[in-house]
This record gives sequence, C-alpha cells and structure tokens, in this order.
Amino acid sequence: MYNSKISGLGFYLPENIVTNDDLSKMMDTSDEWIRERTGIKERRWIDRTSKDTTSVMGVKAAKMAISDANLTKDDIDFIIFATLSPDYFFPGAGVMVQDMMDMNTVGALDVRNQCSGFIYALSTADQFVKTGMYKNILVIGSETHSPGLDKTTRGRGVSVIFGDGAGAVVVSREEDNSKGILSTHLHSQGEHAKELSVISPGLGTRWVSDIIKDNDPNEESYLPYMNGQFVFKNAVVRFSEVINEALEKNNLKKDDIKLLIPHQANLRIAQFIQKKFKLEDNQVFNNISKYGNTTAASIPIALAEAHKANLVQKNDIIVLAAFGSGFTWGSALIRW
Ligand code: ACO
Repeated sequence: MYNSKISGLGFYLPENIVTNDDLSKMMDTSDEWIRERTGIKERRWIDRTSKDTTSVMGVKAAKMAISDANLTKDDIDFIIFATLSPDYFFPGAGVMVQDMMDMNTVGALDVRNQCSGFIYALSTADQFVKTGMYKNILVIGSETHSPGLDKTTRGRGVSVIFGDGAGAVVVSREEDNSKGILSTHLHSQGEHAKELSVISPGLGTRWVSDIIKDNDPNEESYLPYMNGQFVFKNAVVRFSEVINEALEKNNLKKDDIKLLIPHQANLRIAQFIQKKFKLEDNQVFNNISKYGNTTAASIPIALAEAHKANLVQKNDIIVLAAFGSGFTWGSALIRW
C-alpha cells in the first residue's frame, strides 16, 4: 500500500462579480440581511455571454493544478469530477475535461454528491492511489449554479447563497506513509434528500425540456428547494461529528489542527464549528464572503487560496470537512 498526497492545486472564478446590492435590484432582499445570515458580501456568477461552463471552468482550474504539481496532462491516470451542475444531463463533465484537455483515453468518473462532492472525490482518488492502481489523479470540483437559480423574490432563500467557480487538485502517490491524506470519512442519510434538492416528481424520468415545454408559469419543481433551518441544524451536528471522527481515527486532538477548511456553506455554520472546537481565528479558513457557496468547488478553491497565502506548510495537519444535500457529509485529514 502507498499513501496519497495533494501534489498540485488550482482554481478559477468567473470575473463577473454580483454584489448583495445587485441582488436587491432583482428581488426583495438586502445587503444587511444576506451578510448577517450568511456572511456573504458578493459572489461570482458566470457572464452568460462568456464560454464558461462547469467543465470549461473545471479545465481552467485543472490546468493550474497539473502545472502546480510539475506534471503534464499526459501524467494523469484518471479524472474525477465532482459537480451538481454538469454541462449536460449526460454524459458527465469528466469526459468533457478529457476531451478539452486532449488527454489520453484515461477513465473519467463523475461524482454527484453536491456540497460533499469534493470530499467524496478526494476519498475515491485516495483509494485508487493507495492501492497502487493509479499514480496521479486529477480531482475537480466545479459548479455553475447561477443559470439554475430562481432570481425572483420567490427564490431568495436559496439564490443569494450560491456562487459559480471551480477548484482542482492533483492527488499523487506518496511513498512516506506518515504523510499525505491520512484518512477520509464519508456518510449519507437519504431520508433528508428532499430538504435540499431539486426533486421534481418527474425530473429524472421526465426531461427538464418537457417541463419547460409544458410552459406552466407556476411550475416550480425544477427549481432548487432548501429547508434552510433544517439544513443548518443538521450541518452543525454532522460537521462536528465528522471532524471528530477524523481526529479520533488519527489519535489527534483539536489543538493539532493547523487549519480547518470547512465547505463554505454559510459563515455562521463555520463560526459555530469554530466555537464548538474552540479553534482560533487563524485555525479556520473562510472565503465565503467573496464567493458565496460554490458547492463542490468550495473546498478546492479555499485550499488553493490558503496554500497561496502560505497558510499550509509542510507537516501541517489540515482538516477538510463538508456537509450538503443528500444529506451527505465527509472529512479528510491530511498531513501536508
Ligand atoms: N432576503 C431577505 N429576506 C429573506 C431572504 C433573503 N434573501 N431569504 C429568506 N428571507 C426571509 C424569509 O422569507 C423569512 O421571512 P418571514 O419571516 O416573513 O417568513 C425570513 O427571511 C426568515 O427566513 P428563514 O428561512 O427562517 O431565515 P434563516 O434565519 O433560517 O436564514 C438561511 C435562512 C440563511 C438560508 C439559513 O437558514 C441558513 O443559512 N441555512 C443553512 C443553509 C446552508 O448553509 N446551506 C448550504 C449548506 S448545504 C450546501 O452547501 C448544499
């Protein structure tokens, strides 16, 4: 058995900044309400006239990560793409990356685990590298939420939270078993699927285009729904559990955490976790104020930014943790 490590990091954010004040021109909301409840000041939404899509942004982040790892695209053995907003219903976004980057005909796997998607993808890559099957795996998290959001007052409970963006890492073989990704922990609880979802009675067996073709102005089933308070309450419990699980598995204490990078769901959730674990401000990384919640992209973007800011150093214990729709949640503990 080998170990695995993150050998390269990259991210891409669309240029178009949408502030809270911009949103208040589209719907009945305010900068004050959004900042107080979520910590978000602005987010990036793709310019619909640009060429950016989930896979295009993923490619931009991926190129940066591969170059950061001092590798070339031909060194990549496998692609794992986490997203809830793929370019197409099928095929998945992973094959788009293989094509756009003109890569060898390596395998491409899509992971559909929403906000926990990156942790699930990272854990999957970790297993393939640990068993020796692959040496270098490209793991991407990318989301284009903005076109699917309801930008009227009806959708304000969801649409103010989400942003577009992409992050990527390369997971590579590490010969030293005391370093790299030490453990990952994954969970799900499908009974709460409907609390944060696009669960249309027909979607999946019926095509979105059919729903739109039906042309019912009151049709809402294809719009995202979130039971915000229920999600919040479950998130704080599951975040805590899965961070503890990672610490216990590795015989570590909260004081050993150099940096916790939580999925950027909501600043209040991160602050709650920080308080619960009695972590200092410099032990928790947040960038939600700039980008909103970018779902599967949030952890790799945050990790890349933290690394760029020299907040991640050799031998540091880094904890990644996520919770999201499904419900699914997970964590990864890394000795950098
Ligand atoms: N602007 C102004 N008012 C709003 C807005 C808005 N954008 N959204 C909702 N409101 C109103 C509601 O209509 C409601 O009005 P009413 O009292 O007249 O009925 C009032 O504000 C309170 O609404 P709540 O939903 O109870 O507000 P809450 O304090 O729960 O905050 C929020 C909502 C921010 C969504 C919160 O519940 C939350 O953060 N939940 C966690 C959600 C989350 O983090 N999701 C992401 C994690 S999972 C993932 O990333 C996929």
